[in-house]
Amino acid sequence: MDALRIEGGRRLSGSLTVDGSKNAALPALAAALLADAPVTLRGVPMLQDIANMTRLLGELGCDVTSDGNTVTIETTDTSKVHAPYDIVRTMRASICVLGPLLAARGEARVAMPGGCAIGDRPVDLHLRGLKALGAKVTLESGDMVLRCDKLRGTTVFMGGPFGSTVLGTTNVLCAAVLAEGETIIESAACEPEVAFVAQMLRAMGADIAGEGTPRIRVQGVKQLSGVDMQVMPDRIVAGTLAVAAAITNGDVTLHRFPFDHLLAVLDRLDEAGVHVRQLDPEEAPQACSVQITTDRRLRPILFTTQPFPGFPTDLQAQVMSLLCLADGNSIVTEKIYPDRFLHVPELTRMGATLIRQGATVVVQGADELVGAPVMASDLRGSAALVLAGLAARGETLVRRIYHLDRGYLHLEQQLAGLGAAIERVDGGPT
Ligand code: EPU
Repeated sequence: MDALRIEGGRRLSGSLTVDGSKNAALPALAAALLADAPVTLRGVPMLQDIANMTRLLGELGCDVTSDGNTVTIETTDTSKVHAPYDIVRTMRASICVLGPLLAARGEARVAMPGGCAIGDRPVDLHLRGLKALGAKVTLESGDMVLRCDKLRGTTVFMGGPFGSTVLGTTNVLCAAVLAEGETIIESAACEPEVAFVAQMLRAMGADIAGEGTPRIRVQGVKQLSGVDMQVMPDRIVAGTLAVAAAITNGDVTLHRFPFDHLLAVLDRLDEAGVHVRQLDPEEAPQACSVQITTDRRLRPILFTTQPFPGFPTDLQAQVMSLLCLADGNSIVTEKIYPDRFLHVPELTRMGATLIRQGATVVVQGADELVGAPVMASDLRGSAALVLAGLAARGETLVRRIYHLDRGYLHLEQQLAGLGAAIERVDGGPT
């Protein structure tokens, strides 16, 4: 099984372009089920999750072709409505097909996703929203089965105990675009990936207003056409690379950096002594070139993960690695997935002093981290261990990096291109 071997202590320098966003591409690929003509997405990061989604679309009667990082989807058979468990269990984002299938085909049968390493991850809000639009929901042999004669617009409230739901909002949005009349999605997720899907649907002929705000209005239309879209840059990959530069006290330039989508993170990094400067003020702040530089000593900070525009949960682990090297005690609170701390015991193996109390971790900054064999258990936690390895004294071996490969495209090649001593090796059995 693949592992990453890292010899820590190299300062990163050079430049890199941020890849397209996985979490925008996944619901966008699923939204292609709504179109009556080919949908082309460009700049798709060809990750394992994307391969799983294209395989699923194949099972759902779509003809999927890819050329480099361009993917084209054309529906050829509308009789298929089943997303089976053998795909759903490998990728929770399979849930993205629920709304599109229901709206386009009147039925969706999607295996109920189980829990995952970062927490329970229920789907009640998805189902509540789709029921409000007129779906009848049953559970049959572990599959959620949703049927409708006609979807009718209404007001749908998408807030839950941990804020709004990102994929739940895109599911309801995808169903509402073909529903009869007006749908108002209240407490909609404001994440940029939701706004991207809304913009894509609008380019296909949907009538949508207010994406990126907590109230999205949708006026249903009869049909949607094809589209040709460029996928937005990945804000989580961009943030991870920025931390890689910072943790090695490097000097790195990143292109297609989604500055505007990372304001909460940039604010916290700046406070810690990591400065991300837009190089050309004329460039769109959603995809611009930035330079990352770091003060000699990092300062401790306090941050809490929140829905967008707050600090994203998907960067909590990576920034925690950075804070292990700050000059004092930092406090990190996780409000989206209160158990998303699988990286904590592994960072401890590398010499970090981390004290967890419920959903809060106190990070006692130290002068150094020490390389060690560590094991990844989820995607972003794996990235955090790689970042720690870049800064640690000696060798770090990060095992089980199939988690990492789900969300980062050849991260080791990108980091090696910036001067890191990192290579993919055979890590032996798990
Ligand atoms: N929640 C409910 N009920 C629901 C749905 C969600 O209570 O029906 C809760 C969740 O348990 C969680 C919170 O609401 O506490 C937010 O979950 P959300 O539904 O927004 O998560 P998601 O849409 O399933 C996406 C990303 C995640 C990211 C979250 C939060 C994709 C494919 N996944 O998941 O990304 O952490 O939003 O921003 O877009 C990752 O890329 O590493 C990743 C886990």
